[in-house]
Amino acid sequence: MSVYTLVEERQEADLLFIPCIEGKTIEESCEGASALLAHFSTLQKLAEFEPKLGKTLLLYPQKEKEPRICLLGLGKKPSTEAVREGYASALRACLKFSCKKVNVLFPDCSPAEEVLEAAFEGLLLANYTFGKYKSGKVPHKLGSPVDHFFLISRTRSSRLDALVEIAHSVYLTRDLINTNADEMTPEKLAQVAIEMAKNRKGLRVEILEKKELESLGMGLFLAVNKGSSIEPKLIVLHYEGDPSSAKKVACVGKGVTFDTGGLSLKPTQFMQGMKADMGGAGTVFGLIDALSRLQVKKNVIGVIPSTENAIDGNSYKVGDIYTSYSGKTVEIDNTDAEGRLILADALSYTADKYSPDLMIDLATLTGAIVVSLGEDYAGLFSNNLPLQRALEHASQAVGERFWPMPLHRPYFSLLRSDFADTKNSGSREAGSITAALFLREFIRDLPWAHLDIAGCAFRSRESGCFPKNASGEVVRSLVEFISSLDEATLQKIQEYEVDCSSS
Ligand code: BES
Ligand code: MN
Ligand code: ZN
Repeated sequence: MSVYTLVEERQEADLLFIPCIEGKTIEESCEGASALLAHFSTLQKLAEFEPKLGKTLLLYPQKEKEPRICLLGLGKKPSTEAVREGYASALRACLKFSCKKVNVLFPDCSPAEEVLEAAFEGLLLANYTFGKYKSGKVPHKLGSPVDHFFLISRTRSSRLDALVEIAHSVYLTRDLINTNADEMTPEKLAQVAIEMAKNRKGLRVEILEKKELESLGMGLFLAVNKGSSIEPKLIVLHYEGDPSSAKKVACVGKGVTFDTGGLSLKPTQFMQGMKADMGGAGTVFGLIDALSRLQVKKNVIGVIPSTENAIDGNSYKVGDIYTSYSGKTVEIDNTDAEGRLILADALSYTADKYSPDLMIDLATLTGAIVVSLGEDYAGLFSNNLPLQRALEHASQAVGERFWPMPLHRPYFSLLRSDFADTKNSGSREAGSITAALFLREFIRDLPWAHLDIAGCAFRSRESGCFPKNASGEVVRSLVEFISSLDEATLQKIQEYEVDCSSS
């Protein structure tokens, strides 16, 4: 059974959502509300509610048979983002108690179709809890997410089913990231990929084992793996949604299943959350999962270099020099700058082996991006302006936030090495930019974008559509970007001349 039905009237349910717009009465805020409201004694409280965006007020029934009501504030003149976030915050506030079925009213604002879609998407994104490690014996029972939404609206949209599919992919990304690092190992990620490809049209998986990485000469990837008792895997997800076309996009995701820092060991407080260092990998899984659920007519290759950055007597060492798959040599300045090492090998391998039309990498790459942009923005670096614009556009369309960062070439000198072609890190200065500049050495000059998701992938608090911990952010932007990538945009991307002098 579907998770939603469009209905004309309120159904038997545990909860009713009523949107409120600042400066309007409830009848004005919400189509079809007046008919319902006359009966509810609890709504006398309404006057006390200030409908600022993100505010909610829960009203408990005073008479039997009246439903619990959640008033949700949307502020003045709500945008689609505001609607999406307003419904998400409201549902999250209600997950504390059990509500299996809910009735939902929608604000009376236009464009009605977009508003309906955004509200429903917000509800879906919030309808997630990670209960895996709750024993069930705890007194405060874990809130169980809603299993059915009655959408009370006359508006129709053809996108609702797709939103449900994409939400499942976002949940997948969150589950992968939230799961214990000791469980979500490179081996397990490979199994998840193989499992996912079963019975999915157009999806095929290839796993490159340690031996193959050795014969390919992936010296940087293998160096990071040295201190780990678990073997590395290079996971390649081939999604072929348009066999008639040779065009393809490659997405490369950092899959460090736990980042201790290696010999350049992280201090305790910085190691917290490092099970999320496979956030880029989790995002690629979510993307490929969504594309194959929706059978999007595009070709995408997902590439995931996965290893722990652990520590033991065999760990790779500071000051040593390793040779990359590309032939460039790298002096290890800091073993905690491991993400760029495994990505470097994965990027140049992907470029050589598959010659994609463009490459995007996703990585929880630097603490510096968290300092610069906080948790609400992903840092976006690109050598290609049309590609950058298209990604920004896609993120805006789905209500995620990318912020453009400069690939300022002169900073590359911060990584200069006396004995090798480059070092893997330098000073603290411009940390997220030097990391991006390092990656740029390994992309074979393809149109490329790098998303540093260290802030947004795993959050210390809930915000907007995103829960605390794994957010699944960026999955929807990429699904949107790939689905709407047309010939004209691709041509602009391919014709763009990189200006090497300044950026
Ligand atoms: N995985 C971390 C980056 C990170 C930090 C992700 C905070 C999520 C939250 C990455 O491998 C790392 O350790 N980067 C170092 C680089 C430095 C040694 C040049 C950093 O940011 O401190
Ligand atoms: Mn690190
Ligand atoms: Zn890391």
